[in-house]
Parts: sequence; structure tokens; C-alpha cells
Amino acid sequence: MSQKNLIVAFGGVSPEHEVSVLTAIQAISALEESSYNCIPLYITKSGRWLTGEKLLDLSNYKEISKLESDAISCAFVKDETGRTLLKEQESAGFFSKPKSYPVYAVLCAFHGSEGENGSFQGVCEMMNVPYSGSGVLGSSLGMDKVKAKLVATANGIPVTKAVNFYESDWEKEQEEIINVAEDFGYPLIVKPVSLGSSIGVAIANTREELVNSIETAFRYDAHLLIEEAVNPLMEINCSVIGTPEDCRPSVCEKPLGQTETLSFEDKYQSGGGEKGMASADRVIPADISKELTKKIRDLATKTFSVLDASGIARLDFLVNANTKEVYFNEINTIPGSFSFYLWDKSDIPFNMLLEELIDIGLKKHREKNGRVRSYETNLLSEKAIKGIKGLKGSKN
Ligand SMILES: Nc1ncnc2c1ncn2[C@@H]1O[C@H](COP(=O)(O)OP(=O)(O)O)[C@@H](O)[C@H]1O
Ligand SMILES: [Mg+2]
Repeated sequence: MSQKNLIVAFGGVSPEHEVSVLTAIQAISALEESSYNCIPLYITKSGRWLTGEKLLDLSNYKEISKLESDAISCAFVKDETGRTLLKEQESAGFFSKPKSYPVYAVLCAFHGSEGENGSFQGVCEMMNVPYSGSGVLGSSLGMDKVKAKLVATANGIPVTKAVNFYESDWEKEQEEIINVAEDFGYPLIVKPVSLGSSIGVAIANTREELVNSIETAFRYDAHLLIEEAVNPLMEINCSVIGTPEDCRPSVCEKPLGQTETLSFEDKYQSGGGEKGMASADRVIPADISKELTKKIRDLATKTFSVLDASGIARLDFLVNANTKEVYFNEINTIPGSFSFYLWDKSDIPFNMLLEELIDIGLKKHREKNGRVRSYETNLLSEKAIKGIKGLKGSKN
């Protein structure tokens, strides 16, 4: 392959759609001097797959309907040799033919929903193309706060006490659920199990607030968690890069929320739009003791491994500011801006970080394809089929 086509996949049917656009455009500009030919794969809010030059310019996203009509529909297809192509399904102009790009690798720059929960990763597995970040299992574990906590607990990683329930449980056992939660003591935290960006997350100080928060959170997710609140709270995040067998932590950051819980506005709208996660207020490296830093970095790599993460993730911890007890809160398997602001403080510039992220995906893909995955013998051949009982046409 002469040109190394890197498909930068972003957007998607997700509340974090715009943040993903920022992450992707940041990555494409950081890779400008690289050996990759970046091809955008933009998934619209309605789920259409689009490509084309116009998608590379952030200012074009101000008029989204114009951008969508100027861009070109595309899909992954296999050619007759089994190679995967990103194929345009219409031509860019009257005189040009639809183009096809052999896929060298995919850079997954989605945040939230199907782009981050293993679904898009499953498409890449089926098409057998190298892709960045966690695989199907790690991505889905990362998206489900209940399952992530279960796996963490089974591996001795501390998490806050919690009760989880579905909407049908709430209809039948409201009293029991409230009793279990109230045993933790107020304040309590209510959150959807599979969302991000603090959407639907609320703090409840009374039973009335608890019930209201639950009813609001059910608008976003059919599965909820009520957690004991870490109080007084200090949040510390740490990014990790690598594979479950071999990974390392970045410096730690202390995000500074303006309200009691770090809201969507704190994360993305307070410090000016175009910088994405890199704009939120934070202290880097976190102003905490050496011992606490080490404890969190060790927990971050251990949690990354047991949750089967790969590539770059950001692991978020809740620390009791008085007792310094640490709890794993969540893993973001595609963190905003790929957490580059934590790695450049660890002396790895953004372009090198992305190169390493892509290399990890390429290596995982080589390993997968180096193992035996199919068998030459045709079990449905004339000879073999005679040995199968109960089939029409077999002699047994
Ligand atoms: N158990 C808790 N105690 C105190 N604050 C919490 C707790 N859980 C979450 N929060 C606050 O709510 C914010 C959002 O919760 P989080 O679990 O990170 O959900 P999201 O995936 O939406 O980011 C956290 O950043 C933190 O400020
Ligand atoms: Mg969070």
C-alpha cells in the first residue's frame, strides 16, 4: 500500500457528538506532518456515514445541514481480495468518480454511545481493520458503570457503595431501593449507568430530591445507580496508555468543578468551545502528596488492565479530601482530546502520543491475524456431511 490511509472516525449518535468533532479535528491537525493520509469518517447525528475534504475544517460545522449536503456518503466494503476499503457511494462532483481508500488503520475519535461502547469497534473487527483504543469487551465494560464496578471489585479495586436497578424494578420495589440507598446516608448520587458527561447525574440531600433525581435520570437511561457520596470530594484523573499486559500512567490531574458535581458545562462550555476537554479548569500535575499520586497511578494501571482496556484511556477517581480514601469512579476508553494535555506534561507531544496509539492498534491487529482463526477443512463437504447424524442426505 503506497499511502497509509488513516480513517479518522468521529461524530456519531451521541450527546457528546460535538466534543468528538473537536477531538477528531485536533488529532488530524496534530498528524499533519505524519506519514498518514487522514481521511475523515464523520457519522452524523442521524447515523449517516460521510467523508470528504469539507469535513476537515472546523468552521464548516457551524452550518451542519450545508456540511452534510456537501459531504459524500461512504461505507466500509471488502474488495475481491478481502481488503477493506472506505468507499464513496457517490461522486464529489460531476466530472469525478467515487473514490475508494484502502484502510490502513482507523483512529476512533468518538465519545459516548455506539462509537465508544464497543459497537463501532465490532464493525472494525468484522471488517478486520486495525483500530485504535479498546476492543469490544473493554469498550463495553467501560460504558457500563455497574459492570465496570463489578470487575473492579472482583480485583480488589475500591469503589463506592451503590445500588443499581432497572425502571421495572423501580416500579415494583421503590421502597426497598430507597431503603438500601438511605442506609448509605445522604447526600446520595444518582446516575445513569451508561451515559457520560455528567448527563442525568444529580446529588440528592433528601428523599424528595432522590425520587425526583431518579425520575429525571430515567429519561436518559433505563438502568440507574445510586451511590454513597464521597464527601468532601476531590476528583483526581489519570490517563493510561498501552495494553492490558503492558501499560503506563500519565501525570495526575485535579479537575476543578464550579458546581458540586462537575457538569457538562464545566467540562465543555466554560473555558471556550474549540479546545474541548483541554479547556476545562484543572491543576496538572495534581497538587497532592507523592504517596497519593503513586497510589492513584498504580490503581489506574491495574484498573485499565482488569477492564481489558487498550490504547489511551482516562481513569477517574473520587478521593475523600479529609481521609484521602480513593475510589475508582469510571474509565473513559476514548477520553476527550485523547487526554493529550496529561501526556504533554509527561513529555510526550500530541503527535507522538497519536502515533503510539495507532501503533498499539496495528500491533493488536497483527497479533489477532497471526493466530489460527479459521480451518481449511470444509465440514460441509460431501465426505464430511455423511458423518453428520440427522441430516437429510446423510446416510446415518
Ligand atoms: N459517588 C460520588 N460522590 C461524589 N460525587 C460524585 C460521585 N459520583 C459522581 N460524582 C460527581 O459527578 C460527576 C459525574 O459523575 P460520573 O460518574 O463521572 O459520570 P459521567 O460518566 O457522566 O462523567 C463526577 O465527576 C463527580 O463530580
Ligand atoms: Mg465522569
